[in-house]
Amino acid sequence: MTLQIWLKKLWVTMILMEYHNPVLLKESVDGLNIKPDGVYVDVTFGGGGHSAEILSRLSKKGKLFAFDQDEDALDNAMDDPRFTLINENFRFIKRFLRFHGIKKS
Ligand SMILES: C[S@@+](CC[C@H](N)C(=O)[O-])C[C@H]1O[C@@H](n2cnc3c(N)ncnc32)[C@H](O)[C@@H]1O
Repeated sequence: MTLQIWLKKLWVTMILMEYHNPVLLKESVDGLNIKPDGVYVDVTFGGGGHSAEILSRLSKKGKLFAFDQDEDALDNAMDDPRFTLINENFRFIKRFLRFHGIKKS
């Protein structure tokens, strides 16, 4: 492998690490004041860093729905019964949440 290819691989790896480790992760999720049994929606799932943090604060009764219109995001979906990834634009949020039985309280 040439040095140029190796450096390119390193750069891509660093970008991916950043993508999966969002900055101010704990601080931003703290701001949600998560209720363990609550229902939450992450409208820009991406690498799933925020979703993983939200899930870690939910009880068995809690639910997390996530939207991402990019097919690549599906690779990051969490295998967790409390979690549903919706591969659509979040502008359809109402329609999909209704489909999954979630109503505004
Ligand atoms: C910066 S990433 C989100 C990172 C994520 N918060 C994390 O913790 O890894 C932004 C994501 O939002 C998605 N996105 C942007 N606009 C969207 C839309 N209107 N509907 C659904 N997904 C969208 C993109 O496909 C991308 O994967």
